[in-house]
Amino acid sequence: MDLFEYQARDLFEKHGVPVLGGVVATTPEEAGAAAEKLGGGTVVVKAQVKTGGRGKAGGVKLAHSPAEAAEKAGEILGMDIKGHTVHRVMVAAGASIAEEYYVSLLLDRAERRYLAMASVEGGMEIEQLAVERPDALARVAVDPAVGIDAAKAAEIVATAGFDAETGPKVAEVLQQLWTVYHAEDATLVEVNPLVKTADGAIIALDGKVTLDDNAQFRHADHAELEDKAATDPLEAKAKEHDLNYVKLDGEVGIIGNGAGLVMSTLDVVAQAGERHGGVRPANFLDIGGGASAEIMAAGLDVILNDPQVKAVFVNVFGGITACDAVANGIVSALGILGDEATKPLVVRLDGNNVVEGRRILTEAAHPMVTLAETMDGGADRAAELANA
Ligand SMILES: Nc1ncnc2c1ncn2[C@@H]1O[C@H](COP(=O)(O)OP(=O)(O)OP(=O)(O)O)[C@@H](O)[C@H]1O
Ligand SMILES: [Mg+2]
Repeated sequence: MDLFEYQARDLFEKHGVPVLGGVVATTPEEAGAAAEKLGGGTVVVKAQVKTGGRGKAGGVKLAHSPAEAAEKAGEILGMDIKGHTVHRVMVAAGASIAEEYYVSLLLDRAERRYLAMASVEGGMEIEQLAVERPDALARVAVDPAVGIDAAKAAEIVATAGFDAETGPKVAEVLQQLWTVYHAEDATLVEVNPLVKTADGAIIALDGKVTLDDNAQFRHADHAELEDKAATDPLEAKAKEHDLNYVKLDGEVGIIGNGAGLVMSTLDVVAQAGERHGGVRPANFLDIGGGASAEIMAAGLDVILNDPQVKAVFVNVFGGITACDAVANGIVSALGILGDEATKPLVVRLDGNNVVEGRRILTEAAHPMVTLAETMDGGADRAAELANA
């Protein structure tokens, strides 16, 4: 889960990372009041969207009075930044910036450890810097079992070339950021810019944090960080049933067991769609190994409630859960759904106990169900039905 900047700021504060005051506002009036609350002086009004490049898009604006903060908020709220509509701004205390740095900590999957990156040339051009002068961006491997202790922090600031006065202060912040990363189970903590103010203090002026969803069971408090308004209602429903579902933009609903099989099902359906009016997969849905009737019903319920779906392709390879169990699951799911099962269903079963599985479906003779012999054949039929 990616966090908004204001949420990252709160987590930073919780773990002792130096940040400035920030207040969230959803209207110009609230933004004016927030600026007042921050002392009535210079503030920065910042678009809260989960994408980068807000500054360049005009989503970060300086204001010298509460009235001006309200005015800038009025300009930023409702703005579209790379397809993200701005629903809130954060009014942040203005910093007097002497220098801008970059630091981040992330999961390096290929190396099976963490990676710390730092640069004395932070700010809005960091992506360009990373491409044009990669040497200016220090990369230091971090052993997950050790983390960023004083020695590692010193190594990072030395590699990045911080001077003797600033280095130790940045090293201290790096250790605090490690606490955020570790204690909150993050996979990314990025600060751009980390600034040195005119009086020499080091402050995190921006924050990007990604939390590891797999660690959510350890963090009951993370649930409230979720942006419920932005979650697709079908995805929310799927999540309630613990289904591995991702909404896509097409017309052919997909159910399969095993992520690999579902991914290749998406491919063959997209390919078949080219022969049938350009229909495309409507979703990714992996019902996993144990395709019980309840799970099948929950999956079908989610997919059939997607108004874009015109036909469904169920592609199951019987393994530990045999095809007859899956077939029984489909039949009882259709029973549970009753009149809601109004869209054609193409079912391809193969693997363990396939003959019995097909017999069960043939015998049930549900008017909406068509059996397919092969994956390609099923994809083609489902695409054809979706295009009908
Ligand atoms: N509180 C602040 N006080 C003074 N200047 C600020 C403050 N916050 C941000 N700025 C200035 O605005 C610039 C852009 O801010 P910020 O880094 O938050 O947005 P961004 O980098 O454009 O967005 P993103 O990180 O999403 O790409 C900073 O580099 C900094 O110069
Ligand atoms: Mg930034």
